[in-house]
Amino acid sequence: MTVPTQALETAIVRRARESEYEAVGELTFRGFGHHLAGARQPDAERLNLLVNARARAAAGELLVAEDTTTGELLGTVTVLPHGSSLARQAEPREVEVRLLAVLPEARRRGLGWLLLDRASELAVAQGAERIVLDTGVDNHGSQNLYERYGYVRRPDREKPRPAPKVQLAVFTLDLASS
Ligand SMILES: CC(C)(COP(=O)(O)OP(=O)(O)OC[C@H]1O[C@@H](n2cnc3c(N)ncnc32)[C@H](O)[C@@H]1OP(=O)(O)O)[C@@H](O)C(=O)NCCC(=O)NCCS
Repeated sequence: MTVPTQALETAIVRRARESEYEAVGELTFRGFGHHLAGARQPDAERLNLLVNARARAAAGELLVAEDTTTGELLGTVTVLPHGSSLARQAEPREVEVRLLAVLPEARRRGLGWLLLDRASELAVAQGAERIVLDTGVDNHGSQNLYERYGYVRRPDREKPRPAPKVQLAVFTLDLASS
């Protein structure tokens, strides 16, 4: 897969440092746009998931995209093994990707793609056969990214969730074919 050139030239993806966990929590909140005027606010459980980057690092691999010129953190993703306390979709031999988020002002530069690339590399290194992730059924921007990247929608793995929870679309990527 080809990472858009702009992201390769201007950003790196690496593990978050412990000293950055608070900043990554803030980055995740902003990456989902909750700081924007009129934005829908997360419930308490979701808010804790977004801001508690330390818990995500403990449960799996917490990655960040860093602007190589300014040092600013622009995006993040968490890579969770099957059985992780924060994994909600992964089956055996699968790795789960959660909380992919890029700051609104840094989107459409290839950072989401670059973060997915590093997630794939980690999953392969961990011996996984497949990556699974979910996203809101109405989140067409992320679904477009996932499908373009090679993920396939899996309605067979989608379960109804009680309102007011957002319904989830599930996607998988077979690593052998990526
Ligand atoms: C989804 C998200 C991570 C994408 O990050 P990004 O850095 O903008 O993505 P990229 O620049 O790597 O996009 C690569 C390609 O994916 C597709 N894509 C990405 N965002 C898209 C959007 N909003 N609408 C349509 N296509 C999109 C495009 O094909 C894009 O290539 P292009 O810009 O040349 O057309 C970002 O929009 C985001 O953080 N959204 C809020 C949080 C979220 O929804 N997370 C995922 C669900 S858990």
